Amino acid sequence: METIISPSILSADFANLERDINKVASAGAKWVHIDVMDGHFVPNITIGAPVVKSLRKATNLVLDVHLMISEPKKYVKDFIEAGADIITFHYESQSDLTLEIIKEIKDAKKLAGISIKPMTPSSAIEKFIPYLDMVLIMTVEPGFGGQKFMHECVSKIADVKEFARIYGKNDLYIQVDGGINDISAKICTKMGANSLVAGSYIFNSDNIDLAIKSLVE
Ligand code: DX5
Ligand code: ZN
Repeated sequence: METIISPSILSADFANLERDINKVASAGAKWVHIDVMDGHFVPNITIGAPVVKSLRKATNLVLDVHLMISEPKKYVKDFIEAGADIITFHYESQSDLTLEIIKEIKDAKKLAGISIKPMTPSSAIEKFIPYLDMVLIMTVEPGFGGQKFMHECVSKIADVKEFARIYGKNDLYIQVDGGINDISAKICTKMGANSLVAGSYIFNSDNIDLAIKSLVE
């Protein structure tokens, strides 16, 4: 599977999201990563469903929505209706409702992802693998862009790749998010990641085309 780059607009200019998304699209990105934070599950507040709805009209890129919110069950419908293509929520938020939330996303014909924070073991999500389209392994504590890549999370990529093999999910997206640059990207793809989220590395670079290329080459 070709490595999919999902530039995180958390590091884009929030007054010029359409312009910045067009930049990464011109550089070859097929997905755009949208970080939704509620100031409760994580300390920061960012984007809500109305912004996703506007972005849906502004781009044809795959809208890869990462919910870092305490109550995904309550809000998942809003993001479906806003036009998200992939909805990823955190295992740590409402773990007893995980299957219900996945079902709601799948029933709407969207791709469903689950994410785990650095301290959560990969074993926590093994039983959900048959129902998932994506697993997002956080390689920083969620909440902020521009943090340092946590090497200790890397082995979880291999764990999830093994789960995918065991359950015959050859098309499972294994995504990493946090501190991705040209060096950490290679470490992650070598371990089996096939989707890389990068925010500050892409949007703070002088040459977005080269930055994106350097993640896949
Ligand atoms: C962090 C977010 C990330 C963030 C990554 O909580 O989930 O998507 O934008 O930023 P960088 O690539 O700068 O670490
Ligand atoms: Zn993210």
